Amino acid sequence: MTLPFPRIDGEMWAGECKVADLVAEFGSPLYVYDARVIEAAYRRMEVAFAGVDLLLAYSVKANSNLEILKRLVALGAGADIVSRGELHRCLTAGFSPEDMVFAGVGKTEAEMEAALAAGILAFNVESAEELELLSQVAERVGKPAPVALRVNPDIVADTPHEYTRTGGGATKFGIPVDRVMDLYRWAADRPTLEIRGIDVHIGSQILEAEPYERALDHVLGLAAQIRAEGIDLDFVDLGGGYGVSYDGGDGMSVEDLADIVVPRVAEAGLRLILEPGRFIVGEAGILVTKVLYVKHSGAKTFVVMDGGMTELIRPSHYQGFHRIEPVISREEATHEVVDVVGPICETGDFLARDRMLQMPASGDLLAVHTTGAYGFVMASNYNSRPKPAEVVVDGAEVTLARRRESLDDLLRGELG
Ligand SMILES: Cc1ncc(COP(=O)(O)O)c(C=O)c1O
Repeated sequence: MTLPFPRIDGEMWAGECKVADLVAEFGSPLYVYDARVIEAAYRRMEVAFAGVDLLLAYSVKANSNLEILKRLVALGAGADIVSRGELHRCLTAGFSPEDMVFAGVGKTEAEMEAALAAGILAFNVESAEELELLSQVAERVGKPAPVALRVNPDIVADTPHEYTRTGGGATKFGIPVDRVMDLYRWAADRPTLEIRGIDVHIGSQILEAEPYERALDHVLGLAAQIRAEGIDLDFVDLGGGYGVSYDGGDGMSVEDLADIVVPRVAEAGLRLILEPGRFIVGEAGILVTKVLYVKHSGAKTFVVMDGGMTELIRPSHYQGFHRIEPVISREEATHEVVDVVGPICETGDFLARDRMLQMPASGDLLAVHTTGAYGFVMASNYNSRPKPAEVVVDGAEVTLARRRESLDDLLRGELG
């Protein structure tokens, strides 16, 4: 496979731009996204699932920068949202509300009202309590709430970290299978609720089709039972979680997945919703950070960067592995095992541990790969650090998608 951010004569490029030139213009640390890689991933899914009536509802939590959202609108995407903030972003970016689904175990009344008023396609409801509150909100607003119930199929998918497994019976997500039928019956009796579909999401960074096959069989079985009781369904939502390559190998084969999913969904006569996040944007992003110091302490060598867990928390939060490469290779450099760490006052502030790396020197730039998803969106201001800038490259065209935060931005909203 061709990896994004290719190297030409030892130097890393994003589209038709040298990554080092982008940092010279926009500073470090810097997130760089390649718009063409995003488009290619989106088209790949669209083509793979062409045999069924499909809505690709991009999972906005993965990367919610407006520039990226607008580009996805232009490609025809819908959106999977989890908060009023994401609803606001998506409406601002130009998504059609009829192409939005709203997930999450803790939707508030205010969020329900806003999404109902906007006219979203469906609330993916995660509990009996939420369904009841949604019914009350719909009555007050005077508009039936479109719903799908999120089933917890009690399937534990093999993801790299327990925090990204959501389909097991012991997680907070979804409605236990033995309660699903009763809740559909209850909803069908309410004029305040309009049943639209059935939903499942089993986890994130899944590389095999098999757990999806089990989850799909499960919900299609339920869908048949629901319809047998005269309750109509429009769609099955299979959630997201389609894995990408963090180590330079292959991500998930969405084509293999489609071979399993498309015929079954087509036979059921349902519309298919998929909620890919990471698959669309993950490989399209790098975090570029600058080496401040190379420090030897005890038996270890620490490469201290100007970016760390405040810019990218995945390594410390999920023990996430990201390939790290020099932006400009030093052919003469030796390779050593190092810890790549940030400047934040936490031992857990690292980008890589015990990693064999071409030894960099102070001032060198390193690129942390596959950071287009769950990168900037999880950035924080901890240690009063301004958030980095984000740029989108499309061939030779460069768009500053978010300016670097200023010191005044850090104080915004404080009343002291
Ligand atoms: C309900 C739901 N849908 C979709 C996603 C997107 O997952 P991914 O970015 O791995 O595709 C998530 C991730 O947490 C999710 O919880």
